[in-house]
Amino acid sequence: MSNLLSTNIAQLQLKTPTALASGILGYTAESLQLAAKGGAGTVVTKSVGVNPRPGYPNPTVVQAKNALINAVGLPNPGINQYTEEITYSKTLLKVPLIVSVFGYTAEEYALVSQKAADAGADAVELNVSCPHVKYTGSEIGQNPKLLTEVICKVKAATQKPVIVKLSPNVTDITELAKAAEKAGADALTVVNTVRAVVIDIETQTPILSNVRGGMSGPAVKPIALRCVYDVFEAVKLPIFGCGGITNWKDAVEFFLAGASAVQVGTAVASEEPSVFQAINRGVTSYLKRKGYRSVKEIVGLCHQA
Ligand SMILES: Cc1cc2nc3c(=O)[nH]c(=O)nc-3n(C[C@H](O)[C@H](O)[C@H](O)COP(=O)(O)O)c2cc1C
Repeated sequence: MSNLLSTNIAQLQLKTPTALASGILGYTAESLQLAAKGGAGTVVTKSVGVNPRPGYPNPTVVQAKNALINAVGLPNPGINQYTEEITYSKTLLKVPLIVSVFGYTAEEYALVSQKAADAGADAVELNVSCPHVKYTGSEIGQNPKLLTEVICKVKAATQKPVIVKLSPNVTDITELAKAAEKAGADALTVVNTVRAVVIDIETQTPILSNVRGGMSGPAVKPIALRCVYDVFEAVKLPIFGCGGITNWKDAVEFFLAGASAVQVGTAVASEEPSVFQAINRGVTSYLKRKGYRSVKEIVGLCHQA
Protein backbone atom coordinates (compact mmCIF):
# COMPACT_ATOMS: atom_id res chain seq x y z
CA MET A 1 0.00 0.00 0.00
CA SER A 2 1.07 3.55 -0.62
CA ASN A 3 2.57 5.98 1.91
CA LEU A 4 -0.74 7.80 1.77
CA LEU A 5 -2.11 5.20 4.16
CA SER A 6 0.80 4.72 6.55
CA THR A 7 0.17 6.03 10.02
CA ASN A 8 1.20 5.55 13.63
CA ILE A 9 -0.83 5.02 16.75
CA ALA A 10 0.34 4.19 20.28
CA GLN A 11 3.96 3.98 19.01
CA LEU A 12 2.94 1.34 16.44
CA GLN A 13 3.89 1.98 12.81
CA LEU A 14 1.05 0.86 10.54
CA LYS A 15 1.28 0.44 6.77
CA THR A 16 -2.49 0.82 6.54
CA PRO A 17 -4.96 2.49 8.95
CA THR A 18 -7.29 -0.54 9.07
CA ALA A 19 -7.14 -3.14 11.84
CA LEU A 20 -8.80 -6.42 12.75
CA ALA A 21 -11.04 -5.87 15.81
CA SER A 22 -10.87 -8.27 18.76
CA GLY A 23 -13.00 -11.41 18.69
CA ILE A 24 -13.29 -12.00 14.96
CA LEU A 25 -10.74 -14.37 13.34
CA GLY A 26 -8.56 -13.59 16.34
CA TYR A 27 -7.90 -16.98 17.91
CA THR A 28 -5.07 -18.46 15.91
CA ALA A 29 -1.90 -17.22 14.26
CA GLU A 30 -3.20 -18.40 10.88
CA SER A 31 -6.49 -16.53 11.17
CA LEU A 32 -4.70 -13.35 12.29
CA GLN A 33 -2.44 -13.74 9.27
CA LEU A 34 -5.50 -13.99 6.98
CA ALA A 35 -6.57 -10.52 8.14
CA ALA A 36 -3.05 -9.12 7.71
CA LYS A 37 -2.81 -10.60 4.20
CA GLY A 38 -6.25 -9.12 3.51
CA GLY A 39 -4.78 -5.65 4.10
CA ALA A 40 -5.10 -5.01 7.85
CA GLY A 41 -2.30 -2.77 9.15
CA THR A 42 -2.46 -4.42 12.57
CA VAL A 43 -4.45 -7.21 14.20
CA VAL A 44 -6.05 -7.58 17.64
CA THR A 45 -6.46 -11.04 19.16
CA LYS A 46 -9.56 -12.42 20.86
CA SER A 47 -9.57 -11.31 24.51
CA VAL A 48 -7.55 -13.57 26.80
CA GLY A 49 -7.68 -13.84 30.60
CA VAL A 50 -5.68 -15.57 33.34
CA ASN A 51 -7.61 -18.85 33.28
CA PRO A 52 -9.28 -20.85 30.48
CA ARG A 53 -13.00 -20.07 29.98
CA PRO A 54 -15.40 -22.17 27.89
CA GLY A 55 -17.75 -19.27 27.10
CA TYR A 56 -21.55 -19.54 27.11
CA PRO A 57 -23.65 -22.37 25.66
CA ASN A 58 -25.43 -21.76 22.33
CA PRO A 59 -27.15 -19.68 21.08
CA THR A 60 -24.34 -17.14 21.40
CA VAL A 61 -24.77 -15.13 18.19
CA VAL A 62 -27.97 -13.85 16.53
CA GLN A 63 -28.21 -12.10 13.17
CA ALA A 64 -30.49 -9.06 13.34
CA LYS A 65 -31.30 -6.33 10.82
CA ASN A 66 -27.94 -4.70 9.91
CA ALA A 67 -26.45 -6.08 13.11
CA LEU A 68 -25.12 -9.05 15.02
CA ILE A 69 -26.00 -9.57 18.67
CA ASN A 70 -23.44 -11.75 20.49
CA ALA A 71 -22.86 -13.07 23.95
CA VAL A 72 -20.05 -15.55 23.41
CA GLY A 73 -18.84 -15.13 27.00
CA LEU A 74 -15.11 -14.51 26.47
CA PRO A 75 -14.12 -18.11 25.63
CA ASN A 76 -10.32 -18.39 25.70
CA PRO A 77 -7.57 -20.89 26.55
CA GLY A 78 -6.01 -18.78 29.35
CA ILE A 79 -2.81 -16.78 28.97
CA ASN A 80 -0.37 -19.58 29.85
CA GLN A 81 -1.48 -21.62 26.87
CA TYR A 82 -2.07 -18.58 24.66
CA THR A 83 1.51 -17.33 25.00
CA GLU A 84 2.54 -20.11 22.58
CA GLU A 85 0.08 -18.76 19.99
CA ILE A 86 1.38 -15.22 20.52
CA THR A 87 4.98 -16.29 19.98
CA TYR A 88 4.02 -18.32 16.90
CA SER A 89 1.90 -15.44 15.54
CA LYS A 90 4.95 -13.18 15.72
CA THR A 91 6.84 -15.55 13.41
CA LEU A 92 4.06 -15.36 10.79
CA LEU A 93 2.85 -11.77 10.98
CA LYS A 94 4.41 -8.83 9.18
CA VAL A 95 2.15 -6.36 11.02
CA PRO A 96 2.10 -5.35 14.71
CA LEU A 97 0.28 -7.78 17.00
CA ILE A 98 -2.04 -6.37 19.65
CA VAL A 99 -3.17 -8.80 22.35
CA SER A 100 -6.58 -8.11 23.88
CA VAL A 101 -6.60 -8.68 27.64
CA PHE A 102 -9.35 -9.04 30.23
CA GLY A 103 -9.33 -9.78 33.96
CA TYR A 104 -11.47 -9.70 37.09
CA THR A 105 -9.02 -7.51 39.02
CA ALA A 106 -6.34 -4.94 38.19
CA GLU A 107 -3.72 -7.55 39.16
CA GLU A 108 -5.15 -10.02 36.62
CA TYR A 109 -5.09 -7.42 33.83
CA ALA A 110 -1.46 -6.66 34.75
CA LEU A 111 -0.42 -10.32 34.87
CA VAL A 112 -1.98 -11.19 31.51
CA SER A 113 -0.55 -8.03 29.91
CA GLN A 114 2.93 -8.80 31.20
CA LYS A 115 2.80 -12.40 29.94
CA ALA A 116 1.45 -11.29 26.56
CA ALA A 117 4.21 -8.68 26.23
CA ASP A 118 6.90 -11.18 27.27
CA ALA A 119 5.58 -13.59 24.62
CA GLY A 120 6.02 -10.94 21.92
CA ALA A 121 2.88 -8.78 21.78
CA ASP A 122 3.65 -5.34 20.32
CA ALA A 123 0.89 -3.76 22.42
CA VAL A 124 -1.98 -4.77 24.66
CA GLU A 125 -5.59 -3.67 24.34
CA LEU A 126 -7.50 -3.71 27.63
CA ASN A 127 -11.02 -5.03 27.18
CA VAL A 128 -12.72 -3.02 29.91
CA SER A 129 -15.94 -2.93 27.92
CA CYS A 130 -17.31 -6.46 27.35
CA PRO A 131 -21.06 -6.03 27.95
CA HIS A 132 -21.98 -9.61 28.78
CA VAL A 133 -19.59 -11.11 31.36
CA LYS A 134 -20.07 -10.22 35.02
CA TYR A 135 -17.31 -8.70 37.17
CA THR A 136 -15.05 -7.86 34.23
CA GLY A 137 -15.33 -5.75 31.10
CA SER A 138 -17.78 -2.90 31.28
CA GLU A 139 -18.17 -3.19 35.06
CA ILE A 140 -14.60 -1.88 35.16
CA GLY A 141 -14.85 0.36 32.14
CA GLN A 142 -17.92 2.17 33.50
CA ASN A 143 -16.13 3.18 36.68
CA PRO A 144 -13.36 5.82 36.39
CA LYS A 145 -11.77 4.72 39.69
CA LEU A 146 -11.55 1.02 38.77
CA LEU A 147 -10.44 1.93 35.24
CA THR A 148 -7.62 4.09 36.62
CA GLU A 149 -6.46 1.30 38.92
CA VAL A 150 -6.40 -1.23 36.06
CA ILE A 151 -4.45 1.05 33.70
CA CYS A 152 -1.91 2.08 36.38
CA LYS A 153 -1.21 -1.56 37.29
CA VAL A 154 -0.85 -2.58 33.63
CA LYS A 155 1.44 0.38 32.86
CA ALA A 156 3.63 -0.64 35.80
CA ALA A 157 3.76 -4.25 34.54
CA THR A 158 4.78 -3.63 30.91
CA GLN A 159 6.71 -1.17 28.75
CA LYS A 160 4.55 -2.00 25.72
CA PRO A 161 1.88 0.48 24.57
CA VAL A 162 -1.42 0.14 26.40
CA ILE A 163 -4.62 0.68 24.41
CA VAL A 164 -7.88 1.00 26.35
CA LYS A 165 -11.10 -0.17 24.70
CA LEU A 166 -14.05 1.88 25.88
CA SER A 167 -17.73 0.97 26.16
CA PRO A 168 -20.55 2.93 24.52
CA ASN A 169 -22.83 1.77 27.36
CA VAL A 170 -22.14 4.75 29.61
CA THR A 171 -23.78 8.12 30.21
CA ASP A 172 -20.67 10.14 29.37
CA ILE A 173 -17.87 8.36 27.51
CA THR A 174 -15.59 11.41 27.80
CA GLU A 175 -15.37 10.93 31.57
CA LEU A 176 -13.85 7.47 31.02
CA ALA A 177 -11.62 8.69 28.20
CA LYS A 178 -10.22 11.42 30.45
CA ALA A 179 -9.63 8.92 33.28
CA ALA A 180 -7.78 6.63 30.85
CA GLU A 181 -5.62 9.50 29.59
CA LYS A 182 -4.76 10.62 33.12
CA ALA A 183 -3.85 7.04 34.13
CA GLY A 184 -1.32 6.81 31.28
CA ALA A 185 -3.11 5.00 28.44
CA ASP A 186 -1.29 5.31 25.09
CA ALA A 187 -4.39 5.11 22.88
CA LEU A 188 -8.11 4.35 23.00
CA THR A 189 -10.32 2.01 21.02
CA VAL A 190 -13.79 3.52 20.69
CA VAL A 191 -16.01 1.40 21.01
CA ASN A 192 -17.00 -2.13 22.06
CA THR A 193 -20.51 -3.51 21.42
CA VAL A 194 -23.81 -1.88 22.44
CA ARG A 195 -25.90 -3.77 25.04
CA ALA A 196 -28.87 -5.50 23.43
CA VAL A 197 -31.54 -8.21 23.79
CA VAL A 198 -33.31 -10.31 21.12
CA ILE A 199 -36.57 -12.19 21.79
CA ASP A 200 -38.17 -15.18 20.03
CA ILE A 201 -41.91 -14.39 19.86
CA GLU A 202 -42.90 -18.05 19.37
CA THR A 203 -41.12 -19.40 22.43
CA GLN A 204 -41.60 -16.02 24.13
CA THR A 205 -38.08 -16.13 25.57
CA PRO A 206 -34.82 -14.26 24.96
CA ILE A 207 -32.80 -15.98 22.23
CA LEU A 208 -29.27 -15.68 23.62
CA SER A 209 -28.47 -18.18 26.36
CA ASN A 210 -27.02 -15.28 28.35
CA VAL A 211 -30.15 -13.17 27.59
CA ARG A 212 -28.16 -9.92 27.19
CA GLY A 213 -25.56 -9.50 24.48
CA GLY A 214 -23.59 -6.89 22.59
CA MET A 215 -24.68 -5.45 19.26
CA SER A 216 -22.22 -4.80 16.41
CA GLY A 217 -22.38 -4.19 12.67
CA PRO A 218 -23.75 -1.34 10.49
CA ALA A 219 -26.62 -0.48 12.87
CA VAL A 220 -24.20 0.70 15.60
CA LYS A 221 -22.09 2.93 13.34
CA PRO A 222 -23.74 6.28 14.19
CA ILE A 223 -23.42 5.50 17.92
CA ALA A 224 -19.73 4.59 17.57
CA LEU A 225 -19.13 7.66 15.43
CA ARG A 226 -20.71 9.92 18.07
CA CYS A 227 -18.46 8.32 20.71
CA VAL A 228 -15.33 8.97 18.59
CA TYR A 229 -16.46 12.53 17.91
CA ASP A 230 -16.95 13.24 21.62
CA VAL A 231 -13.75 11.51 22.76
CA PHE A 232 -11.66 13.35 20.15
CA GLU A 233 -12.81 16.68 21.63
CA ALA A 234 -12.14 15.52 25.22
CA VAL A 235 -8.63 14.03 25.10
CA LYS A 236 -5.39 14.14 23.11
CA LEU A 237 -4.93 10.36 22.89
CA PRO A 238 -4.97 8.74 19.44
CA ILE A 239 -8.14 6.77 18.73
CA PHE A 240 -8.93 3.49 16.98
CA GLY A 241 -12.49 4.03 15.73
CA CYS A 242 -14.59 0.85 15.86
CA GLY A 243 -18.22 -0.05 15.31
CA GLY A 244 -20.15 -0.85 12.15
CA ILE A 245 -17.44 -0.09 9.60
CA THR A 246 -18.04 -2.05 6.40
CA ASN A 247 -16.64 0.12 3.60
CA TRP A 248 -14.22 2.97 2.82
CA LYS A 249 -16.87 5.66 3.26
CA ASP A 250 -17.52 4.48 6.82
CA ALA A 251 -13.77 4.55 7.49
CA VAL A 252 -13.46 8.11 6.14
CA GLU A 253 -16.31 9.23 8.43
CA PHE A 254 -14.38 7.84 11.41
CA PHE A 255 -11.14 9.58 10.35
CA LEU A 256 -12.99 12.88 9.97
CA ALA A 257 -14.57 12.39 13.42
CA GLY A 258 -11.11 11.92 14.96
CA ALA A 259 -9.96 8.31 14.58
CA SER A 260 -6.30 7.81 13.60
CA ALA A 261 -7.07 4.25 12.48
CA VAL A 262 -10.14 2.02 12.32
CA GLN A 263 -10.89 -1.49 13.55
CA VAL A 264 -13.26 -3.75 11.64
CA GLY A 265 -15.02 -6.75 13.19
CA THR A 266 -18.44 -7.89 12.01
CA ALA A 267 -17.77 -6.96 8.36
CA VAL A 268 -14.77 -9.30 8.34
CA ALA A 269 -17.05 -12.16 9.38
CA SER A 270 -19.68 -11.30 6.75
CA GLU A 271 -17.49 -10.10 3.88
CA GLU A 272 -14.15 -11.92 4.33
CA PRO A 273 -10.72 -10.47 5.18
CA SER A 274 -10.39 -8.80 1.76
CA VAL A 275 -12.68 -6.10 3.21
CA PHE A 276 -9.48 -4.42 4.50
CA GLN A 277 -8.07 -4.14 0.98
CA ALA A 278 -11.35 -2.75 -0.32
CA ILE A 279 -11.40 -0.11 2.44
CA ASN A 280 -7.73 0.75 1.90
CA ARG A 281 -8.26 1.19 -1.85
CA GLY A 282 -11.33 3.36 -1.38
CA VAL A 283 -9.60 5.56 1.21
CA THR A 284 -6.59 5.94 -1.12
CA SER A 285 -8.79 7.09 -4.03
CA TYR A 286 -10.64 9.52 -1.73
CA LEU A 287 -7.38 11.03 -0.43
CA LYS A 288 -6.00 11.42 -3.97
CA ARG A 289 -9.26 12.91 -5.28
CA LYS A 290 -9.26 15.46 -2.44
CA GLY A 291 -5.54 16.25 -2.86
CA TYR A 292 -4.22 14.93 0.47
CA ARG A 293 -0.77 13.37 0.88
CA SER A 294 -1.54 11.35 4.01
CA VAL A 295 -4.51 9.90 5.84
CA LYS A 296 -3.18 11.73 8.90
CA GLU A 297 -4.25 15.01 7.29
CA ILE A 298 -7.95 14.18 7.58
CA VAL A 299 -7.97 12.95 11.19
CA GLY A 300 -10.46 15.09 13.15
CA LEU A 301 -10.97 17.41 10.20
CA CYS A 302 -14.72 17.79 10.67
CA HIS A 303 -14.13 19.44 14.07
CA GLN A 304 -12.72 22.50 12.31
CA ALA A 305 -16.01 23.13 10.55
C1 LIG B 1 -18.63 -12.45 17.83
C2 LIG B 1 -17.92 -11.27 18.44
C3 LIG B 1 -16.96 -11.48 19.41
C4 LIG B 1 -16.29 -10.40 20.00
N1 LIG B 1 -15.33 -10.63 20.95
C5 LIG B 1 -14.66 -9.58 21.49
C6 LIG B 1 -13.61 -9.79 22.43
O1 LIG B 1 -13.24 -10.92 22.77
N2 LIG B 1 -12.99 -8.70 22.95
C7 LIG B 1 -13.33 -7.41 22.60
O2 LIG B 1 -12.72 -6.46 23.10
N3 LIG B 1 -14.30 -7.19 21.68
C8 LIG B 1 -14.97 -8.23 21.14
N4 LIG B 1 -15.94 -8.00 20.20
C9 LIG B 1 -16.28 -6.60 19.83
C10 LIG B 1 -15.55 -6.16 18.56
O3 LIG B 1 -14.16 -6.18 18.72
C11 LIG B 1 -15.99 -4.73 18.16
O4 LIG B 1 -15.66 -3.83 19.19
C12 LIG B 1 -17.49 -4.63 17.89
O5 LIG B 1 -17.98 -5.81 17.27
C13 LIG B 1 -17.87 -3.41 17.04
O6 LIG B 1 -17.23 -3.45 15.79
P1 LIG B 1 -17.91 -4.08 14.45
O7 LIG B 1 -19.25 -3.45 14.30
O8 LIG B 1 -16.94 -3.76 13.35
O9 LIG B 1 -18.02 -5.56 14.69
C14 LIG B 1 -16.62 -9.07 19.60
C15 LIG B 1 -17.59 -8.88 18.59
C16 LIG B 1 -18.23 -9.94 18.01
C17 LIG B 1 -19.26 -9.69 16.93
